[in-house]
Amino acid sequence: MTAVLHSPSEAPIASQRTLAGGIVGLGLAGGIMVPNMQSHPGLRLAAAAEPCDATRSRFEGETNVPAFSSIEDMLREATLDFVYIATPHQYHRAHAVVAANNGKHVIVEKPMALSLKDCDEMIAAAAANHVQLLVGHTHSFDPAVMRIRELIVSGAVGRPVSVSMWNYTDFLYRPRRAEELDTAAGGGIMFNQIPHQVDIARMIVGAPVRSVRAATSRLDSARQTEGGCSAFIDFENGATATIAYSGYDRFDSDELHDWVSEGGYVKAAAHGRSRRALRSCSSATEEEERRRATFGYGAGISVGPPPHQPHFGLMIVSCERADLRQSSGGIWIYDDEGARYLGIEARTWRPGRGDVLEELRRAIIDAVPPIHDGAFGRGTVEASLALLRSAIERREIFLNERRSG
Ligand SMILES: NC(=O)c1ccc[n+]([C@@H]2O[C@H](COP(=O)([O-])OP(=O)(O)OC[C@H]3O[C@@H](n4cnc5c(N)ncnc54)[C@H](O)[C@@H]3O)[C@@H](O)[C@H]2O)c1
Repeated sequence: MTAVLHSPSEAPIASQRTLAGGIVGLGLAGGIMVPNMQSHPGLRLAAAAEPCDATRSRFEGETNVPAFSSIEDMLREATLDFVYIATPHQYHRAHAVVAANNGKHVIVEKPMALSLKDCDEMIAAAAANHVQLLVGHTHSFDPAVMRIRELIVSGAVGRPVSVSMWNYTDFLYRPRRAEELDTAAGGGIMFNQIPHQVDIARMIVGAPVRSVRAATSRLDSARQTEGGCSAFIDFENGATATIAYSGYDRFDSDELHDWVSEGGYVKAAAHGRSRRALRSCSSATEEEERRRATFGYGAGISVGPPPHQPHFGLMIVSCERADLRQSSGGIWIYDDEGARYLGIEARTWRPGRGDVLEELRRAIIDAVPPIHDGAFGRGTVEASLALLRSAIERREIFLNERRSG
């Protein structure tokens, strides 16, 4: 947890060895990764796996890179050093294990898996095959989050006391696959969105989670999964995190972030637009098709380096000697002398995506231990599952029930 991530400008690619990567799942996450892997100076996009015929054809036509209908075919046919797994949550365990068992290093998207047992299997497979296992990207890779962590580790602002996070989005009303609306199958914000906030808080606080308390909301009978959450996390070192999340497409917290989107792009206010657009969707199949057309590979969403810093809503970190606020270009520091601004240099790649690739490259080539390894990813799954359980049982949950007696 105390290791420091280097920005690309601080740490030019030293090695000439180019690592060949394969992308599994060419949806929203996989599609964003395509240009980021292609433009990374130390990596080469060498293959993809995707069951949708039309998506595969489009990808092959545009990239001249082979695409296979399954991860097994890709692992058999392509020569790869690593795979990036961007398939729906429920496949993360199986895909990570088969990749590791084939000797490939692995980046698996968040959430690492749907259960701690699955996380343990993935960690064991990576260890047995002597390959790296990284989880991400999450917004804990955001340059501002890493800079806040560095300020804390340096002693400049004192120890962390509290992390306050607010994110209000349209999450529940973007076109979804059926399982994304079924909590038992890993749907809803507790598996998809809250892990970002948990990961950020864990990265900044740098201590194990002691206990959690949460309440969740399900406000739409047509989309019966968690769309809102209020949560409190108590860390072993006495720091706390408070989380507010709403995915109901009403208030949009980007309003408090200079109308800069989660990815760091300029956006316009469009309250309720996602809800209204969904009204013309008449079936789950049509909604799933719309998801692919709107967010899948080639859908035309912004994927390259953004003009502003990415974020996951409004965040204020209180430390012993200063409050820190992540902003669209850097960090505001409020201390006894007043307020000052710490700008963050623009990345040459999309922050988060390029950073997770670089963290893997450094781990493989330079033997730098990754921060977001399997154990870190597991910790976020453990806390996120505990938050869900706390909401269901309406009580505080102690992690591993170490102190419940
Ligand atoms: N880090 C982030 O900010 C971020 C953003 C989006 C998604 N994600 C994560 O990425 C994962 C995928 O989410 P998404 O939004 O891209 O979903 P999506 O539905 O947009 O895309 C999933 C893709 O995987 C493909 N697929 C399904 N089964 C497959 C299989 N067996 N083998 C290969 N491909 C298969 C689908 O055809 C589809 O193209 C999720 O776990 C999600 O949490 C992370």
